[in-house]
Amino acid sequence: MKVLSGIQPTGRFHWGNYFGAIRQYIALQNNEQAFYFIADLHALTTVREPQVLSGFVQDAAIDLLALGLDPAKATLFRQSDIPEVTELTWLLMTVTQMHLLEKCHAYKDKKAKGIAADAGLFTYPVLMAADIILYDSNVVPVGVDQVQHIEVTRDVAQRFNTIYNKEVFVLPEPHVLSQTAKVPGTDGEKMSKSYGNTIEIFEEPKKLRKKIMAIKTDSTPVEAPKDPEACNVFTLYKLFASQEQQDALAARYRSGGMGYGEAKQSLFDAANAYFAEARDRRAQLVANPKQVEDVLQEGARKARAKGREVLDRAREACGLGRT
Ligand code: ADP
Ligand code: TRP
Repeated sequence: MKVLSGIQPTGRFHWGNYFGAIRQYIALQNNEQAFYFIADLHALTTVREPQVLSGFVQDAAIDLLALGLDPAKATLFRQSDIPEVTELTWLLMTVTQMHLLEKCHAYKDKKAKGIAADAGLFTYPVLMAADIILYDSNVVPVGVDQVQHIEVTRDVAQRFNTIYNKEVFVLPEPHVLSQTAKVPGTDGEKMSKSYGNTIEIFEEPKKLRKKIMAIKTDSTPVEAPKDPEACNVFTLYKLFASQEQQDALAARYRSGGMGYGEAKQSLFDAANAYFAEARDRRAQLVANPKQVEDVLQEGARKARAKGREVLDRAREACGLGRT
């Protein structure tokens, strides 16, 4: 399997990103090809402060490595280090039908709200198609919201193959990331940067505790029995705790006499223990930026070598360059 996925550096990673995506990328890194990249070109459609963007990219690389992405197994790189991807984007753009892009939700949602979209946002799915096609990827792990973009990718790849009457590109399949991991945020809605309800993976402990203590709960009095399954704190606790720990806390909920503060403290302890090793690895990486840059450079070298092959195939198929 040739696995590839990209993640946008638009903020620090939160628990939703970890359980909904990053953990699953790491689980797939033993495949014949596992390419993961930081989608900084895509992030340009929303992050317009240069220092902020480069900080997010650096943090994304450090966080992924700290969380267990192993450069000996997976290839990690910055999207913008691969100029071949923007060249392929143009080739694909020439065979992408407008109506496909008009249907894509990022653009459609903006338009529905009356917000003017840039051409970058409109053609965002074509760059994403190039990201995938450039490495002959056949499996793309993504959240449900991105499945539409994989369909566009298949369509565009197929159209190119048909127009040039050659199997130039591989058609990728989406690998839909587990929905059981739909992590709720501090307000009970889906955890998302856009809702301001996130808990960052590497939040500083004092702030982490404060955020956890502020998680929304109902007003059942301390003495009353509580239903763990109806509580946001318990849902989050389950992500970090063993079955035994979960059963023990559930019993505390049901027997009454436990306030939400106690459940929140258990969540804080469990989350801290869960990410303790990653936090140590992160501190080492922060102290060693050269090591992180080396990983990204080596990743880009490998990705470019593969990308060049596929791009040359595409250029030849459409009659570009010397004959
Ligand atoms: P955000 O919504 O915070 O902007 P992104 O859209 O950048 O997050 O998500 C990056 C990845 O993390 C995607 O694969 C997405 O499916 C996953 N993800 C984000 N939030 C959650 C969540 N609350 N639960 C499960 N997965 C999530
Ligand atoms: N658009 C994806 C997101 O917002 C990120 C991304 C860019 C991507 N290029 C990709 C994901 C290629 C998978 C494959 O989450």
